[in-house]
Amino acid sequence: MCGIIGILLQKKGLLSKPLGTAIKECLKNLEYRGYDSVGFAILSDNGLIIRKSKGKIDDVVSKLSFDEFDGVCGIGHTRWATHGRPSDTNAHPHTDCTGKVAVIHNGIIENYLEIKDLLIRRGHVFKSETDTEVIAHLIEEYKKLGFSPYDAFKKAASLLKGSYALSALDLDDAGKIFFARNTSPLIIGLTDKAKFLSSDIPAFLEYSRNIIVVQDDEVGYLSNDSVVIEKLVDKSYEFDKNPATAEVVNYASRIRYIDWSPEMARKGGYPHYMLKEIHEQPQAVSNTLISLMNELGDVIKLLSKAERVLIVGSGTSYHASFIGSLLLNELANIKSHAIISSEMRWFVNGVNSEDVVIAVSQSGETIDTLLAVREVKKRGALTLALTNIIDSALARESHLAMYTRAGPEIGVAATKTYTTQVVSLALIAVKLAEYLRTVPESKLSELSTELRELPNTLSSVISASEPKARALSSIVGTKHSMYFLGRGLGLPTSMEGALKLKEISYIHAESYPAGESKHGPIALVDDGFPVAFTILGDEVDMIFSNVEEMRARGAWTLAVMPKGFERISKHFNYVFELNRVAYELAPAVYIAPYQLLAYYTAISRGFDPDKPRNLAKTVTVV
Ligand code: G6P
Repeated sequence: MCGIIGILLQKKGLLSKPLGTAIKECLKNLEYRGYDSVGFAILSDNGLIIRKSKGKIDDVVSKLSFDEFDGVCGIGHTRWATHGRPSDTNAHPHTDCTGKVAVIHNGIIENYLEIKDLLIRRGHVFKSETDTEVIAHLIEEYKKLGFSPYDAFKKAASLLKGSYALSALDLDDAGKIFFARNTSPLIIGLTDKAKFLSSDIPAFLEYSRNIIVVQDDEVGYLSNDSVVIEKLVDKSYEFDKNPATAEVVNYASRIRYIDWSPEMARKGGYPHYMLKEIHEQPQAVSNTLISLMNELGDVIKLLSKAERVLIVGSGTSYHASFIGSLLLNELANIKSHAIISSEMRWFVNGVNSEDVVIAVSQSGETIDTLLAVREVKKRGALTLALTNIIDSALARESHLAMYTRAGPEIGVAATKTYTTQVVSLALIAVKLAEYLRTVPESKLSELSTELRELPNTLSSVISASEPKARALSSIVGTKHSMYFLGRGLGLPTSMEGALKLKEISYIHAESYPAGESKHGPIALVDDGFPVAFTILGDEVDMIFSNVEEMRARGAWTLAVMPKGFERISKHFNYVFELNRVAYELAPAVYIAPYQLLAYYTAISRGFDPDKPRNLAKTVTVV
């Protein structure tokens, strides 16, 4: 959604660059969260400096002159609009009537209209259409009532309903950065010289790897000599004159060391994060397999007793969930269904304590997935998180957490986090099959060998597919619409291929079960209409009749399929012929040509694949 950053230095110049420059660079690392406007506030020797504008950072860098401003304390924001269109006025930070308080926010304040009406009646004048601005005026109002700046901030936070990660500077208590969180992510980074506050770890990875994840209903501040965190209790949401009630939190045991290197979050010579992250997949898969291999004991026992395993996720994570559910059925004979997180509420009546629910989310913060977990927990189901972010909300709220080890993913379109999710779920299915003895030894041994080989296989497939995808992008880039068809595990792989193409190249792309395509989609097919078929191996003969149906209507056909099926591959206009992989593991490898095709098609059409319009990497609104 939006990205926020706060930096507090022990003294000026400690980062060897002006504070404004450091804020700009941290915001660049957060731009994947939203990029329609940008702004910052710095407490300088001349008071509170605020600069903000509509537009991406690179486009407004000279207008905002980040590099000209220095100080010891500053906050910055990159926006993905929810309330109020992108404009200079709606960009954050937002200020109160006195201009002493500056607030940045990620999330949605659900009761902002109510608060705004009350404040207008008390004489406050609003400048923007945002929900955020009410927070600055609320702080001002409580200061007028005699509260200290921090107590006013705390009280303001206690009145807010909805999701927020927020941060504020107040000239009346210069040298502190206030913060509060409910639902939207917020991380503190610590070093000897400086303290950071951010929506995500990569923002400050260059400076700090010691982090504290701020939890729901926590408020606090960073100052020169301390980090104070308190937990709000008994939130009444009433505009009254009582101070907010909060308990001091001892966070010492919550300080974590993150083994991500700053290089992992930089482009490392690639033109875009997405391309870098596609190439990082073999390493990410290898890291994930190594770390999970020894950690699954409890998970396997828990799943083996489940009456049913539901797997929930959104977007790309849903596609991984779909693959996971098919594998649990197929390999471990466990009843399993994948459900889109935002649809869970319509399934929840049938959920009970015999069910285990796996929630899949790279960020661990997607609100639809979090809400699904809360709902099923109420029904007694055990929950298991599969996420890439340590201590994320999903990891904390689930009964058990497992981590993919993809490292930071900056490109908005998920690539390496997807492959690591697929591999994690495949590993679980294989281990369960072993535990429950649901497949023959010979098959188990084939799958175990291939799992170990997966990073190498993926690496060769990426290298072999890249030049072909680049060449093919000039054809696909001219099309207006495209189908992606598959059967079995090829279907979620096709769904992910279609999603990648539409997300970043803005070509309408639709996925369908191949066998179902004759019941409607085929009506659109005429000369040159592009249809991609995902063929993983087992289903090759079954799918061929669907290929023929499309070809008979003039379709331009593409296949992603294994080598060695010339009798079939010769019928396509274009083929990615890939190394053979066991059918059950092929989804983790056969997605690569589609990722590369989407990437190069976006480039051929002149779009930035890292920042697709209207999309955000982490979606914390329902
Ligand atoms: C957004 C992102 C997608 C992602 C989805 C779920 O829509 O743009 O790339 O797949 O959220 O995110 P999660 O963090 O839950 O995997």
